[in-house]
Parts: sequence; structure tokens; C-alpha cells
Amino acid sequence: MTTKLDAEYRKEGFHWGLNPSSAVKNILHLKSQGTVLDIGVGEGRNALFLAQNGFAVTGIDISEEGIKKFTQEAQKRGLHVHGIVADITTAELEKYDVILAINLLQFLTKEKAYATIEKMKKHAEPDGINIIQVFLKENQGSFPYLFSKDELKTLYSDWDILLYKEYETPKEKHGNGPWHHHYVAEIITKRKN
Ligand SMILES: C[S@@+](CC[C@H](N)C(=O)[O-])C[C@H]1O[C@@H](n2cnc3c(N)ncnc32)[C@H](O)[C@@H]1O
Repeated sequence: MTTKLDAEYRKEGFHWGLNPSSAVKNILHLKSQGTVLDIGVGEGRNALFLAQNGFAVTGIDISEEGIKKFTQEAQKRGLHVHGIVADITTAELEKYDVILAINLLQFLTKEKAYATIEKMKKHAEPDGINIIQVFLKENQGSFPYLFSKDELKTLYSDWDILLYKEYETPKEKHGNGPWHHHYVAEIITKRKN
């Protein structure tokens, strides 16, 4: 599928950088191995970090160029990963120990974001972990859906919430875009068996 981000992903360098998100780094305190699905993997900054740390990683993205960049970088580092070009709203999933959606859900409608969260819950193995980072309503710019304070917590009220934070990210810059920061919510949750 062709997307607006394809042109950015075709350029040299990594549009979203290579540093994993803080939420993803935290998984290492909870699990040392297992299967991971990164939904909206982009160029793979989080998925590559987890593969490097011994997890069996699959990344899904609607952008073919994103998946190409992610799998090529994995190959360069001698890592084995699985990349799938697919739209998460229609993709069929297997079950995973850890499922991530980092900075993805604000690009979907509320209905599709909620359906994706249900899918993430349904495809968690016993003791499975879901990790999500989303943009909050305080953000400027137009996004199909921005989350409210505590909304993710409410959506996971039937799971164990291991970490929940709302914060302003440090200033960042993507490609030739302006310096900016985002207001985000981050959640790490564990399925109750
Ligand atoms: C802001 S980027 C974040 C990339 C990565 N998670 C990260 O943190 O660096 C959002 C990604 O979600 C992908 N995406 C958007 N809608 C999608 C959908 N319906 N299904 C799968 N991927 C999607 C985009 O192509 C993009 O690569």
C-alpha cells in the first residue's frame, strides 16, 4: 500500500530515529524473551531494539517502504525479524506475548482505534502484555482521534495496569519538519488470566 509516509521512509536515515520509546525499554524489566507484535512498526526503532534483546519480533505496517526499511536494517544487524505489509484494521493476527502500538492509534478513527485495542487484547497470550503510546487531546494539529486523560486506563480496566503516565515529550524533529513536542499517554498492561 502507498502512504504519505513512503516518501519519508525512502530517504536516507530514520524519520522517527532509532531510539526506542521509554515504554518499550520497560519491557525488559517484565520479560526477557517471547514473541512480539509491533503494530504500526514504521522503520522499526522499537521492534529492532526488542529483536536485539532476544525477542522474536513481527512488525506490521500499512507502508511498504516502512516494512522494507525495517527488514533491511534488521538484516544489516544480523537480526531475524518478520515484516508484514497490512492494514491493522483488517489484518488477521496470531497470538503474541507482547503487543505494541506506539504512536499509531491517533491516526485511526475512534471506532478503529478502539477495535484495534480489542484486537490487541484478544491476541495476547496468557500473561501477555500490551503496550500503547497515544497522543492526547492537548496536541495541536489534526488527527483523526486524540485520547482524553485516563481514557486508556478505562479501556484496560479489566487488565492489570503495570504503568500509566501522561507527559509532554522532549522536543523532537522529524526530517525537515519543525521542532515540536507531543502530549502523550503511555500504558503497560498485563492480561489477567
Ligand atoms: C507515527 S508512526 C510510528 C512508527 C513507530 N511505531 C515508531 O514509534 O517509530 C505511525 C505508523 O503507523 C502506520 N500506520 C498508520 N495506519 C496504519 C494501519 N491502519 N495499519 C498499520 N499501520 C498503520 C504508519 O504507516 C506509520 O508507520
